[in-house]
Amino acid sequence: MGRSPKSTYDLVLLPGDGVGAEVMAEARVLVELVAADTGLAFSLDEIPCGGKFFLEHGSRDWPEGAEAKCSAADAILLGAVGWAGPDGSPVNLPDGKMAGWNAVVGNRVRLDLYANIRPVRCLPGTKHGLSGAFREVWSPDKVDMVIIRENTEGLYSGIGERSQDRATDLRVITRKASERVIRKAFELSRKRGKGAPADGKLRVTCIVKHNVLTGCRFFLDVFREVAKDFPEIDPDVAIVDSFAMFVLTQPERYDVCVTTNMFGDILTDLASVLQGGMGMAVGCNVGDDHAMFEPIHGSAPPLAGKDKANPMAMLLATGQAFGWLGDRFADARLVRAQTAIDAAVASIIERGQPLTGDLGGTAGSRAVAQAVRDDVHTRLTC
Ligand SMILES: NC(=O)c1ccc[n+]([C@@H]2O[C@H](COP(=O)([O-])OP(=O)(O)OC[C@H]3O[C@@H](n4cnc5c(N)ncnc54)[C@H](O)[C@@H]3O)[C@@H](O)[C@H]2O)c1
Repeated sequence: MGRSPKSTYDLVLLPGDGVGAEVMAEARVLVELVAADTGLAFSLDEIPCGGKFFLEHGSRDWPEGAEAKCSAADAILLGAVGWAGPDGSPVNLPDGKMAGWNAVVGNRVRLDLYANIRPVRCLPGTKHGLSGAFREVWSPDKVDMVIIRENTEGLYSGIGERSQDRATDLRVITRKASERVIRKAFELSRKRGKGAPADGKLRVTCIVKHNVLTGCRFFLDVFREVAKDFPEIDPDVAIVDSFAMFVLTQPERYDVCVTTNMFGDILTDLASVLQGGMGMAVGCNVGDDHAMFEPIHGSAPPLAGKDKANPMAMLLATGQAFGWLGDRFADARLVRAQTAIDAAVASIIERGQPLTGDLGGTAGSRAVAQAVRDDVHTRLTC
């Protein structure tokens, strides 16, 4: 890309609702710590957004001018949006979209963040919570894949209609959007260079329902065309429903997977089980010129205000933002910060404490975030 390090990186923070705002507060302290420990400078612009903002302001789900600030940012960090009104039902915009839509889906479409990249790794020591009991179910050496989801169209095109007796949502699959996200998947498999845990083969798995859906047949045709440019990579095809079983029963088969928008939305929540749950899973919304990083979880209203949310996904997402910026601006300090954050989380998981309840621990959200920051500080200053 030929860029050089910047003196100040402009970050927009979108805390959102519920636990989104809580984990973002911890991420903000982490960013400040990284700045102090590395000499990096960040300009932080925190923009309120989501259901609570709409309830308080009545017409918009974020302030006037937020779109332009997001466009101008070097990177965006997003907590999570989604809140319920006084009657208990979700807060929606006048057009029926979820309040918070502009920060999440709006940014993805407006900034052309066409690839939603979701790493799925099981860190050594992870205890999987099943039916209230915690034990190591999946082996860390068998889970190391990335699922890439098309992020701008598909069933989330926003095109549809509703009459008294019928509703439709138009699933749009274009050559342009398919080709660039599929190419990104092959490039990532090549860049990772380690292949699937089962056999070490570079593999890109295209997840479709081509036996039924025209859009999936088209997506798969584009996949087969792009695959020709990557002869060293095994082009693999999985039908979405059986993939939902295999991703849990044979995760070692997968290196990089690519799929359409809604399939990817669902499958990555499912795959987060391999990682220890939603509190560990990161989503990187990446385009050619902009990027937005988030935990994949929502605002988790039942956990909000209780110091219970696992902050690790948000802190790992912050690390991903540093890594992306570091590559983009050839800034080794940022890459080092990401390495330190990844290592800090991995070391706490391996040690087994402090952990929040979703990972079988009893610690609070703030204590876990502080432990991550303490470890990052040690790594960056030793
Ligand atoms: N990108 C986003 O902003 C986004 C994504 C998904 C859902 N949402 C919104 O979030 C709201 C709640 O949705 P939901 O309940 O379906 O999904 P959710 O992700 O908020 O919660 C699902 C489950 O995961 C658990 N969980 C989530 N985050 C956690 C964390 N950090 N630590 C520990 N456990 C965690 C919750 O306790 C809950 O059991 C809705 O309004 C929804 O629209 C927003």
